[in-house]
Amino acid sequence: MKIFLLIFLACFCTGAFGIYIPKATNITNRKFPSTFIWGAATAAYQIEGAWDEDGKGESMWDRFVHSDPTHIDDRSTGDVACDSYHKWQEDIELLKQLNVKLYRFSVAWTRILPTGYLESFNQAGVDYYVNFVKALRAAEIEPMVTLYHWDLPQTLSEQGGWLNDSTADRFGDYARIVFKNLGPYVKLWATINEPKTTCTQGYASGEMAPGLKLVGDGIYQCARVQLLAHATAYHIYHDEFADQGGNVTIVIDATYNEPLTDSAADAEAAEWEFEFNLGWYANPVYLGDWPQIMIDRVGNRSKAEGLSQSRLPPWSKDELEFVKGTFDYFALNMYTAVAVNAIDEPPIGTGNYYLDKGTGTSYKPEWTPSIAGWLYSYPYGMRGLLNRVWSKYNPGSIYVTENGWATTEDLNDQGRLEYLQGYLSNMLDAILEDGVVVDGYTTWSLMDNFEWARGYTQRYGIIDVDFNSPNRTRTFKDSAKWYSQTAATYCLVDTCVD
Ligand SMILES: *[C@@H]1O[C@H](CO)[C@@H](O)[C@H](O)[C@H]1NC(C)=O
Ligand SMILES: *[C@@H]1O[C@H](CO)[C@@H](O)[C@H](O)[C@H]1NC(C)=O
Ligand SMILES: *[C@@H]1O[C@H](CO)[C@@H](O)[C@H](O)[C@H]1NC(C)=O
Ligand SMILES: *[C@@H]1O[C@H](CO)[C@@H](O)[C@H](O)[C@H]1NC(C)=O
Ligand SMILES: *[C@@H]1O[C@H](CO)[C@@H](O)[C@H](O)[C@H]1NC(C)=O
Repeated sequence: MKIFLLIFLACFCTGAFGIYIPKATNITNRKFPSTFIWGAATAAYQIEGAWDEDGKGESMWDRFVHSDPTHIDDRSTGDVACDSYHKWQEDIELLKQLNVKLYRFSVAWTRILPTGYLESFNQAGVDYYVNFVKALRAAEIEPMVTLYHWDLPQTLSEQGGWLNDSTADRFGDYARIVFKNLGPYVKLWATINEPKTTCTQGYASGEMAPGLKLVGDGIYQCARVQLLAHATAYHIYHDEFADQGGNVTIVIDATYNEPLTDSAADAEAAEWEFEFNLGWYANPVYLGDWPQIMIDRVGNRSKAEGLSQSRLPPWSKDELEFVKGTFDYFALNMYTAVAVNAIDEPPIGTGNYYLDKGTGTSYKPEWTPSIAGWLYSYPYGMRGLLNRVWSKYNPGSIYVTENGWATTEDLNDQGRLEYLQGYLSNMLDAILEDGVVVDGYTTWSLMDNFEWARGYTQRYGIIDVDFNSPNRTRTFKDSAKWYSQTAATYCLVDTCVD
């Protein structure tokens, strides 16, 4: 039987741990399985700073922020960010205080290979990360290493970046060095973070580095090259480093797609939305080939535009085989729900991914908006999406590698606390009620950091960072106090039943 803990309106109750317990309904008081791994996540460019120290090369994000300050809302950069490059020992202390056993962070490609090419190899970069993963292990915190979190070497970006097939081979060269050197201390690997967002925002809307606007074809080529790069790294690991015994996958970001109404047309539109977002990347890796609806819709619209080949580049038979099955688990980034409705077929004109998709999207009024325009809290979405991923891709194991909430600077972050509590409660429902295997969770983010085009205006940390202080002082927010309690007790509320 399912047991709910109901805390009623205007209950200013303070829990045993001295934390205000938010007004929240239906948060389960069952315990997470003892094998569940609690963690936190960050990414190199967003926290490290030290953008040109110890031989580091320039990445496309360094170039993007330096070339035109208006690229970033508050005209800031990641030049110093949280200064984690220097404060890494302090960061490990924070992780210990949080009681987490897993830290997802990314390696900066440009510290290892400053130009992206092997000739530029930089031992100082390797040493830095080897020391770091050794220290994490010594603190009994499992490292989960993302090889690529958006900071492509600028040299490679100038040669087409994720539009150039050869970037997949360069990624393989880089991955091999990281596997060889960090592999003895790392068992959980993620190749590429959120390829969808890289392609839509870096190569289509142009809001992120490298700032290209190729919404008709570049966006699809970007997906293809990133998938080839991921598969290249996956095969290198399993062909050359199998004795390390670790697991490798790609990190895919997805939304929960809820039909706007209960019409059959909206249900179908929600399905298309799912396939054009998550399926675009998960299908080739977990099932083989692009989703059929993408093949059909982009193919049809390309033909109507008079093109001889679909803007969605068809895979060769060898490529299909090469990409299919390149996973050892599913790494899912999940923040928000999206309501989806059917629309009339958009007119044929110039190619456009968003028109190819052929859906309308919005948010339901009952969902709670964050300060980020795209992020709405709908906790059930977590359970819904986990079930969908589990049944469709049969991945064996899921890690939720990002999930979090945007606020302005505020230590009393009840909104974040309630968001995390609600989403985790629904995750636990998926585990206990539906039999979905979720082995771990790394919340986004360990601390406030450089939020890409939003600069420091949107804070995702459970730990506050004072960007006005040269010390970049870290302070636990209420959500961090609650999270450390949860990670210690495996319980989302003050008292759980066993
Ligand atoms: C809370 O649980 C009750 C009883 O199962 C249910 O009727 C209600 O819809 C739930 N509320 C929310 C917000 O999930
Ligand atoms: C792709 O990259 C290679 C180097 O790796 C370069 O020789 C080639 O010119 C690039 N292609 C394009 C179209 O930029
Ligand atoms: C790797 O995946 C296999 C199969 O899912 C699992 O048994 C093993 O525990 C995983 N290893 C790590 C380090 O997660
Ligand atoms: C693609 O075009 C064919 C031929 O016109 C049509 O039968 C089919 O329904 C179209 N598929 C989609 C998904 O639009
Ligand atoms: C920064 O840290 C140093 C050493 O802990 C301390 O002496 C100094 O007062 C701090 N400065 C600020 C502005 O917090």
